[in-house]
Amino acid sequence: MEAIKVALGERSYDILVDQGLLDRSAEFLAPLARDRRLLVVSDEKVWATHGARLQAGLGRIEAAPILIPAGEDSKSWTGLETVVDALLAKGVERQDHILAFGGGVVGDLAGFAAAIVNRGCNFVQIPTSLLAQVDSSVGGKTAINAAAGKNLVGAFHQPSLVLIDPSLLDSLDARQVRAGYAEIAKYALIEDAGLFDWLEENGASVLAGDPDARVRAITASVRGKARIVEGDERETSGRRALLNLGHTFGHALETETGYSDRLLHGEAVALGCVLAFGFSAERQLCSPADVARVRAHFQRVGLPSTLAEIDLHGQGDRLAAHMQRDKKRSRGQTAFILARSIGDAFVDTSVDLAEVAGFLNRTQ
Ligand SMILES: NC(=O)c1ccc[n+]([C@@H]2O[C@H](COP(=O)([O-])OP(=O)(O)OC[C@H]3O[C@@H](n4cnc5c(N)ncnc54)[C@H](O)[C@@H]3O)[C@@H](O)[C@H]2O)c1
Ligand SMILES: [Zn+2]
Repeated sequence: MEAIKVALGERSYDILVDQGLLDRSAEFLAPLARDRRLLVVSDEKVWATHGARLQAGLGRIEAAPILIPAGEDSKSWTGLETVVDALLAKGVERQDHILAFGGGVVGDLAGFAAAIVNRGCNFVQIPTSLLAQVDSSVGGKTAINAAAGKNLVGAFHQPSLVLIDPSLLDSLDARQVRAGYAEIAKYALIEDAGLFDWLEENGASVLAGDPDARVRAITASVRGKARIVEGDERETSGRRALLNLGHTFGHALETETGYSDRLLHGEAVALGCVLAFGFSAERQLCSPADVARVRAHFQRVGLPSTLAEIDLHGQGDRLAAHMQRDKKRSRGQTAFILARSIGDAFVDTSVDLAEVAGFLNRTQ
């Protein structure tokens, strides 16, 4: 078993990673289950697939779930109200632990409910999608979506423990697994060149479901994110912004494709990373060879690596306009994460969007 400590003073916690961990979750959760009960929040799809296995793993701990419909729409005011009311109806108290059992939607929603119910309750996470295992369950950001945009209402609220079992991923769509994989590659590109070398050799095994490869890739990613979060828990110094590598370009791509099945978040991040490296090379910050390596890797694992393949070639002006709107919303600051090489990313807040538009118009 791998154990990663997220060191945040009195908010510190462990993230445990092991194949089959779900089946022995009682060992780790019993000490947190007050009156031998956990307040489980899950989505209908995850619960139908893995609920019985969770309950078996929890043994004598009571874990009757509060269920929400699967999908991003549940991360809403209505979804929050449903979960908070259900928790209160169960008589939740501050010392209780809420257990988020699902993908990033469940983690963000249950985490936010935990942050506000009774002015803040404990919570633990068992993330079930690859994206949730390597990204959303780490670092304590919780949120719902508002009419004005995604994740605009939320709180920083760290869990007390995270249990990651890669065997849960065996039931996840291959496309969702690849989307989560993009975030793993992102950490490698930010500051772990050794991990990128390893992914070039072993990425296919991670995607195919090899348990050892999955444990290794997830552990490296969680460790990478934990180190960054420890240095900037609330995104004040700018270091946490590094985690947005590929995301400034990616969000513009998601906006242009309407946040739809046409392009999943992780797919946008993969292409966004290629574009961030391409733009860095155009500014002579990194070598064209690095750009080619990044593009080749995403292409080999079946993630989008060109604008042309998602029919957005030549749409630089439109994409830059989306970035401009984001920029207005964040008081004129668009942070671009650029790179000096694979594993050496940095934040640049002085990028001119007209230059980005030109670059995108010239890029395949
Ligand atoms: N808090 C953060 O730091 C952070 C970081 C990244 C993303 N997010 C958020 O995470 C969300 C996306 O997370 P996601 O991709 O996990 O989405 P999700 O929770 O909607 O899960 C995707 C789909 O997979 C299903 N699913 C999950 N686990 C499964 C399993 N083991 N087997 C079969 N099906 C399974 C879900 O029911 C859902 O239909 C977004 O709302 C995003 O804003 C948050
Ligand atoms: Zn992301």
